[in-house]
Amino acid sequence: MVVNKQNEALPQEQLNPPSAGEAAALGNEFVPEITVFTCIYCAYMSADTAGALRAQYPAGIKIVKLPCTGKVDARYLLEAFEQGADGVCVVGCPIGNCHHVNGNKRAQARVAYTQKLLDQIGLGSERLEMYFVTGGMGVTYATAIREMSERIKELGPNPLRKSMG
Ligand code: FES
Repeated sequence: MVVNKQNEALPQEQLNPPSAGEAAALGNEFVPEITVFTCIYCAYMSADTAGALRAQYPAGIKIVKLPCTGKVDARYLLEAFEQGADGVCVVGCPIGNCHHVNGNKRAQARVAYTQKLLDQIGLGSERLEMYFVTGGMGVTYATAIREMSERIKELGPNPLRKSMG
């Protein structure tokens, strides 16, 4: 048993303070979980660059790599929310630089379509965003993810989580 100077047993929380994730689980702090769909080219490279530059971005990010953001469709995006994501980002190559020609334009249209669906079902289009970056734009990538995280903090947790139990 660990005791303080008054020889009183210390409460468990003082012995092992909760991590950010545990704190979130305990309801002390909301750490948004954000699913980020990236293509394996510019977008994933920018995430890598962000790491190499030690650009700070929040915890709670889950990256899903795709051959191209053109692979993303409304079903993928909505399933991410069904699985508990508080926010979803799609990050692709800049318009005109997609390695699959127009995949990022298709993704952009699907994101816009899914944003309308999110408004209709009451989740809110603000929980979904698309970004375009080159491989060297690590700081831009980190900034985008940070801004998205702040936006989701203001919106609060995904309301579908309650129904998931
Ligand atoms: Fe990057 Fe298509 S390959 S968006």
